[in-house]
Amino acid sequence: FPSDQPDFQDPSTAEAIALASRHLLQGNTVAFPTETVYGLGALALDPQAASRIFATKGRPADNPLIVHVSSTAMLRTLLPSTYSLPPSYDVLMKRFWPGPLTLLFPSDPDVVPPIITANHPTVAIRMPSHPVARALIAVANAPIAAPSANSSGKPSPTRAEHVLRDLGGKLEIILDGGACDVGVESTVVDGLGADGSIRVLRPGGVTVEDIESALREEIGAAAPRVLVHRRHFEDAAIEAAPTTPGMKYRHYSPSVPVTLLYTSGHPPSDFTRTPAAEFFGSLKSADSSVTVKVGLLLPSDSRLLHHAKEVPGIEWFSFPLGAVSDPAVSAQRLFDGLLTLEERGVDWILVEEVAEEKEGLAFMNRVKKAAGESRWIEL
Ligand code: TXA
Ligand code: MG
Repeated sequence: FPSDQPDFQDPSTAEAIALASRHLLQGNTVAFPTETVYGLGALALDPQAASRIFATKGRPADNPLIVHVSSTAMLRTLLPSTYSLPPSYDVLMKRFWPGPLTLLFPSDPDVVPPIITANHPTVAIRMPSHPVARALIAVANAPIAAPSANSSGKPSPTRAEHVLRDLGGKLEIILDGGACDVGVESTVVDGLGADGSIRVLRPGGVTVEDIESALREEIGAAAPRVLVHRRHFEDAAIEAAPTTPGMKYRHYSPSVPVTLLYTSGHPPSDFTRTPAAEFFGSLKSADSSVTVKVGLLLPSDSRLLHHAKEVPGIEWFSFPLGAVSDPAVSAQRLFDGLLTLEERGVDWILVEEVAEEKEGLAFMNRVKKAAGESRWIEL
């Protein structure tokens, strides 16, 4: 792994990290950048410090936290001493750590407090690659629990300004590392099952395709199968439990309604006819003196904007997601787009679908939850 304490160009960066780590060691919370989204950190092994995370976010106590480490030595301190890693974990850690991959490990409640795991027998752990995140953990020399730094249910923050607007009044320190590269949260993987399969509980920054090819390259024909929640497995216990990321609670929703638009398979000219025109028309106010503001999150090469703009009585605000062929850019810009359009005061946000491949899988997972099942519309 690269060094967990790089030489930062600007000495004030190291100073800010030192200050923030002291604040953490005193049992307080700190918001900090990671490569995925901004995190709200506190000492993972101090139940009182961890409880401040739940209070600040308004997070339900039955939703467990991810523990962040800066080294494999720190990881070892969290695991039962006799535990040997599944071979697939060696591969995944070698290929994707530090980075946006979270793995479940068996948890010893005498080591990791039950407030972190919400009393589950496993603990979710990742090693972030953002130099500020990793240095913060290394300087504190302590595992840091960190959910996304947003009020529970809101879109995750990908810029320091997003954190400031949402939680600013409740935080003493926000480390500003600029915009997050990945823009969606880490992929959450459970490889602990008896069958050895790799179960993707939450799609995220490391794609399913990348996990499959890493396992195939390193293990060959004996590589375990990669199963994606809701695509390959439905688990009644998981459905009912909040441990399936985002299953039980409202997630990723700005204060304005979000609608997911399915557009594939339609020639562009179709958008002027029903049901697209009908749908756009339905957004207008019955009172013709009122202009409705509608935000659009669309691939930059989408044909939809052109047709939407033909509908009178609506003021459109578009936020480009990058080319449709580049789902990593769509994922990187999604939460920024939702939060930026909300900030502009739109009455409604429409998001055009992206193919559920590579980073597009995480993108669609978040949009579906932001919209809620009643607001998926086929144009
Ligand atoms: O990229 C990320 O993972 C960001 C950054 C800050 O690292 N963190 C993040 O944390 O997204 P949070 O709390 O917003 O999401 C963690 C997800 C939750 O949905 C939770 O249900 C799941 O991970 N999780 C945590 N512990 C788990 C466990 N033991 N079993 C299953 N799921 C778990
Ligand atoms: Mg979150």
